[in-house]
Amino acid sequence: MTVSARELALDALDRIERDGAYANIVLPELLGRSGLESRDRHFATELVYGTTRMRRACDFLVDRFLTRDLDLRVRNALRLGAYQLHMLGMKPHAAVGETVEVAPKAARGLVNAVLRRVAEAPVTWPDDATRLSYPDWVVEVLTADLGADAARAALEVMNTAPPVTERADGYVQDLASQWVAESVGACPGERVADLCAAPGGKATLLAATGAHVVAGDIRKGRVGLILENARPDHPLAALVADAACAPFAAATFDRVLIDAPCSGLGTLRRRPDARWRVDASAPSRLASVQARLVDAAAVLLKPGGTLVYSVCTLTNSETSGVDDHLAAAHPALVPLPPPAGPWDPHGRGARLLPQSAGTDGMYLLRLRRP
Ligand SMILES: C[S@@+](CC[C@H](N)C(=O)[O-])C[C@H]1O[C@@H](n2cnc3c(N)ncnc32)[C@H](O)[C@@H]1O
Repeated sequence: MTVSARELALDALDRIERDGAYANIVLPELLGRSGLESRDRHFATELVYGTTRMRRACDFLVDRFLTRDLDLRVRNALRLGAYQLHMLGMKPHAAVGETVEVAPKAARGLVNAVLRRVAEAPVTWPDDATRLSYPDWVVEVLTADLGADAARAALEVMNTAPPVTERADGYVQDLASQWVAESVGACPGERVADLCAAPGGKATLLAATGAHVVAGDIRKGRVGLILENARPDHPLAALVADAACAPFAAATFDRVLIDAPCSGLGTLRRRPDARWRVDASAPSRLASVQARLVDAAAVLLKPGGTLVYSVCTLTNSETSGVDDHLAAAHPALVPLPPPAGPWDPHGRGARLLPQSAGTDGMYLLRLRRP
């Protein structure tokens, strides 16, 4: 039996919250066996991704008219209805009626009554974190680190669906990541290490320059992805290794890229459920991992070699904070000029805000061993 887009969306929302399923894994799985036409598939995708991003705002909209806790599926039906009414601006007769139809039978009266009130009542948001639907700590850390206006603009942009950018070789990769790979400046014949490389987005671009690329990652399963994405005619060797103690002699490489594990706060639009998964301790916890990785990478540079450190996040602790560590621990390394606009200088590196060029948010630092 074919499900409707709204019913499928409700199934996906239940699994994301109840089972901790990843939106970008559970949705294609449900769509694959749904029998839905392309238009309905797009609508179901919009409903699942949008309602997941806007979960906190939707809860605020409906909680004004609830007096008791609800079963998860009923709550998700209400969130779905509130999302259609407020974020998609749909007419109440369609949004309410059709959402009521997919709600559990015993709760249809309640869902109908609450959504009708949600459709009519004016909204006064208590704060930006609720209106923009982020955990308080995400709003607080970005406001402190970017300033209130830039943080609000970044948070707004990350509530929209990202564009799909495809490289000439067909690999789908955000432009900001492509710019980071270009900034490594790899040349034919050079020895280049990309030590946090999976799934290989940047490593495959580095190998396309004709440089000899070593692409490592700590997770064996993810190293398999690098190999799947590599072109057989490009010089790339993949290995499983901890970048903090990779099996290479000092002064081996012309260029080393550390595209480090990070809190990912620059890519929240790409992974709608990520904002609810990352915890407030992530930036400081990851900053110490990042410091260890760049320390080890610095040793691998030949004289004249370049270290590139990048993260897809915007917190100071994981960007300028890691550079403060590098400046103190490796004073001989000389900063190279940061890339020009749309990147903004940030300490000795550069930061790309998601609102500047419609890309992911990113940070980049390049240092040269004299
Ligand atoms: C931001 S992702 C890399 C994305 C990749 N550079 C690309 O462009 O496709 C960070 C990667 O670092 C890996 N990682 C985490 N800790 C590591 C460590 N100590 N050593 C090596 N890799 C690590 C993770 O498994 C993850 O694949």
